[in-house]
Amino acid sequence: MNVLLLGSGGREHALAWKIAASPLLTKLYASPGNPGIGSVAELVKLDMSDHSAVAAFCQEKKIDLVVVGPEGPLVAGIADDLRAWGIRVFGPSKAAARLEGSKGFTKDLCAKFNIPTAAYGRFGDLASAKAYVEKTGAPIVIKADGLAAGKGVTIAMTLEEALAALEACFEGAFGTAGAEVVVEEYLTGEEASFFCLCDGATALPFGTAQDHKRVGDGDTGPNTGGMGAYSPAPVMTAEMTERTMREIIEPTMRGMANLGAPFAGILFAGLMITDQGPKLIEYNTRFGDPECQVLMMRLKDDLLILLNAAVDGQLAHMSARWSDEAALTVVMAARGYPGTPEKGSVIRGLDEAAGEGAEIFHAGTAINGGALVANGGRVLNVTATGATVGEAQRRAYAAIDHIDWPQGFFRHDIGWRAVEREKAGA
Ligand code: AMP
Ligand code: GLY
Repeated sequence: MNVLLLGSGGREHALAWKIAASPLLTKLYASPGNPGIGSVAELVKLDMSDHSAVAAFCQEKKIDLVVVGPEGPLVAGIADDLRAWGIRVFGPSKAAARLEGSKGFTKDLCAKFNIPTAAYGRFGDLASAKAYVEKTGAPIVIKADGLAAGKGVTIAMTLEEALAALEACFEGAFGTAGAEVVVEEYLTGEEASFFCLCDGATALPFGTAQDHKRVGDGDTGPNTGGMGAYSPAPVMTAEMTERTMREIIEPTMRGMANLGAPFAGILFAGLMITDQGPKLIEYNTRFGDPECQVLMMRLKDDLLILLNAAVDGQLAHMSARWSDEAALTVVMAARGYPGTPEKGSVIRGLDEAAGEGAEIFHAGTAINGGALVANGGRVLNVTATGATVGEAQRRAYAAIDHIDWPQGFFRHDIGWRAVEREKAGA
């Protein structure tokens, strides 16, 4: 098969690495890709917003499957447009990608199909949103409805913060994404990322992970896209997984089919495991980044076979097998992230680091004058496996010791919650 992978982050490098391991693969193209992806794929420059240009490329190169990494093109309808050209695509339709593209859409779906989630209100104007917040009080969570690159959520511990967040949204801090706002109950518990591979009718559980969203050690500082992750998530026991499938995922699959928008692709449920059980925080309609990196390290089966089965509506006949080992990834970021990162600093020592048994996925790198340089906020994902999360953690940090990049930084405590659990259980 000829495959085109769209995207350029660590998630896409992990997908490319796994797809490249499939005996089904003839040739892998990636756009725009990055230097790490370039080691297993031919990089091509396509304008992802120009769906006809992507389709023309697919026809010219006889692409058998397009795999879409990020949410932007999905919400913009790239899967529908390519399918209209007869091209097979792994990724949800525009209507199904509303699960990520509109938080209000997902909350209404939950209400309609009785899916456990935080209580909420949806507002299109400041006055009614303020009245709701004043009535319910703090802590409370304010979310811009649309895609806001992970920045549209405010956890307001006081009424003043909540009102300020509402004003910022309606004043256009998130552009059109904030023209509508979801206000919701503040949930407490432990968070987990839960993935399902979906074909419109069947949802196949596809791994669990825990992410570290805050930039600093001890979960301090501003939110990021994720500074590290590990898999599996210990909180997702067999019982919790069964409840999540029955109470959240399966009603969502039925609900979406009911609305005429069956979901096919990766459904990524951000969960809060509360005293009452799992509650949906949000859906994403793609793999998590960096969660995908740890999932791909643990997936024993051929990813390309599974993606094809999802596209062909054949998941009811499939299973996915996972390594018993844990996997952990540490994000190395460029100074300044999650604000404006410094670009262009030279990175050395990756070969030595990989010698420690780690996979190093590139997230934001470039080649400049023959040298590997930082070219984004999150730059490298140093990923390792081990019999325990603690062992995977030791291996990942041992690999980082070999990386010579003074302008980079990383968290020193990725996996702390699981490692503490392991110590307590030992
Ligand atoms: P989101 O962009 O929706 O994933 O939200 C970012 C982060 O905000 C989540 O990972 C949670 O840590 C937190 N969060 C979102 N909604 C809630 C909620 N209702 N209660 C508590 N925390 C939340
Ligand atoms: N790591 C969280 C996300 O990909 O949305």
